[in-house]
Amino acid sequence: MRQLSVKSHQGTYDVLIESGLLKRLKHHINPELFYVIIADDMIPIDYVNDVKNACPDHLLIRFPAGEMSKSLFEFSRIIDIMVKHNIRKDAVVVALGGGVTGDLSGFIASVYSRGLDFIQIPTTLLSQIDSSVGGKVAINTTDAKNIIGSIYPPKKVLIDSQTLNTLDKRQINAGMAEMIKYGMIADKAFFEKIKNEDPSQDWDYYIHKSLEIKKRYVEADEFDNSIRQSLNFGHTIGHALETYYEYKKYLHGEAIAIGMVQIVSNPQIKKELIECLKKYNLPTSDPVSFDELKVYINRDKKGRKDLLKIVDVTEIGFSVIVKSQFKL
Ligand code: GLY
Repeated sequence: MRQLSVKSHQGTYDVLIESGLLKRLKHHINPELFYVIIADDMIPIDYVNDVKNACPDHLLIRFPAGEMSKSLFEFSRIIDIMVKHNIRKDAVVVALGGGVTGDLSGFIASVYSRGLDFIQIPTTLLSQIDSSVGGKVAINTTDAKNIIGSIYPPKKVLIDSQTLNTLDKRQINAGMAEMIKYGMIADKAFFEKIKNEDPSQDWDYYIHKSLEIKKRYVEADEFDNSIRQSLNFGHTIGHALETYYEYKKYLHGEAIAIGMVQIVSNPQIKKELIECLKKYNLPTSDPVSFDELKVYINRDKKGRKDLLKIVDVTEIGFSVIVKSQFKL
């Protein structure tokens, strides 16, 4: 088992990474508590059963898979179910699934009864190496991604890398975009390893390494006011693309892949990035013009007045946050 601890304003939480961990979940769950298990309707039934078995007292709530469920509608529907079942303050929310599940469930946990404990059990590569750690939880409005949210750290993150064996290739590749991002912004040797080797030969190593990098940024700037924004390399344009196409054309990681290519200013670095993204069948361009994306970029939650901060990579493994050259 690989493990790391992440410091947050609500205490330190453990992240455990182990192939087959879902089958051994009961060793990491207090069976005396009541659990609200939230999962989408596409999660394999085996995973749901593993969690149910480890949490004898539970309420299971399912929701339609997909980014569209990070909505006020789904948020209030789930809250209503919890109220109807008289869920009390000592219940624990379990987010079982990908980034959408973690963001939606975490946001619910952050506000229900002024805050319930929650556990992340991420089952996609993207959520295992990124969204399950760091405490960002949120839902979208029609026009703006993650605009309603908070920083609400989980009590525990339990990662079973075996879930990646059944994940479709497109989802794996979308997760690889975020892993490539870590190499680009913070670790050249890791970037080279991703470019030249096959991460599926040792998922636990690659997940742990990605989270070690993420941990450094999150602990230094949990509330995302400075250095943590480096993790948003490629996200300003990526989020705008996702919203422009109403979350239908691209998975999050695919949009980020295009966003990273668009934002890197050095041609040699851009070339190396494109080569690496292509290895994982990720898109590197889109026909939409910057002018068409502007309105969505403007709504990006990190925009402050007329100043747009972007992250550039000036050498592989080293990033800078700069004031945008774009006039919005
Ligand atoms: N995914 C970027 C962050 O957690 O800050």
